[in-house]
Amino acid sequence: MSGSAVQDSAVIKTVRFEVLRYNPGKDAEPRLQQYVVPVTKGMTVLDGLTWIKEHEDHTLSWRSSCRMGICGSCGMFINGLPRLACNNQIVHLHSDVVVVKPLPNFDIIRDLVPDLESLFAKHRSVKPYLIRKDLEEQNLPTGEYFQSEQELLNYIQFAYCIKCGLCMSACPTVATSKDYVGPQALTQAWRYTTDTRDEGVKERTEKLYSPHGVYRCHFAGACSQVCPKGVDPALAIQLAKKDAFLKTFGFRKHRRGTPVAPPVENWVAKKNVPKAPAPTVTQDWLLNRQVP
Ligand code: SF4
Ligand code: FES
Repeated sequence: MSGSAVQDSAVIKTVRFEVLRYNPGKDAEPRLQQYVVPVTKGMTVLDGLTWIKEHEDHTLSWRSSCRMGICGSCGMFINGLPRLACNNQIVHLHSDVVVVKPLPNFDIIRDLVPDLESLFAKHRSVKPYLIRKDLEEQNLPTGEYFQSEQELLNYIQFAYCIKCGLCMSACPTVATSKDYVGPQALTQAWRYTTDTRDEGVKERTEKLYSPHGVYRCHFAGACSQVCPKGVDPALAIQLAKKDAFLKTFGFRKHRRGTPVAPPVENWVAKKNVPKAPAPTVTQDWLLNRQVP
């Protein structure tokens, strides 16, 4: 919301924002700074911060992009809970005071900007992509991999993660152990492991069941409570534990990735269905790319 859009008549109340300010290069300690913000209907915490930046203090820093709960970049600690600033209206906080701090369990780069490098490093470490043994088919696909609707439903909930880091900042184990892989990455490890198209179980087992993996979870459930996308990381972690138990005692077998579907014969396009756009990735690019 731009400052000029706030009309006096549209203001429904004022609230006091208490915002953590900290510039590690200059300040000895973080401090809370107060601002009085006029609130209009539908105004989010992110709008409130934007109002402060436009009218009170242009040096206030935070990270945001989409303003619609999709990009995951505006995670903050708002009135005692990790939340997305763009996804929470000020009136829904039911308070005349809005305390905004950066996400706990991460270092502060500046003001409300957390250093999320540890989140992304842990995410990368579980290889969050489909791993297939047949690299030729994977690089130059001849068809789709088979997958039933039920097989999709088994993991789709975990695929909604937007990597906002709220679960990591709510987790008491992450707070006490920097090495704990944590709810975000463990959920993604489980999401790909349980995908029937994947054949990377062995690669991810090392992380999932390491001394810093699923067995460090004490099932506090805070991760699932704060997740804005309903991913339920606590469930993914318990399912991963159950899977290890079943495999250890021989009740569940390691599976192979699903096969490639054969070409469809005598296929006729439905009327009025627009043609798919041409692929943006060419076969030349696929053949010549450097895989890390
Ligand atoms: S699991 Fe939920 S809270 Fe955690 S990073 Fe993904 S979307 Fe955010
Ligand atoms: S700005 Fe993208 S999730 Fe809030």
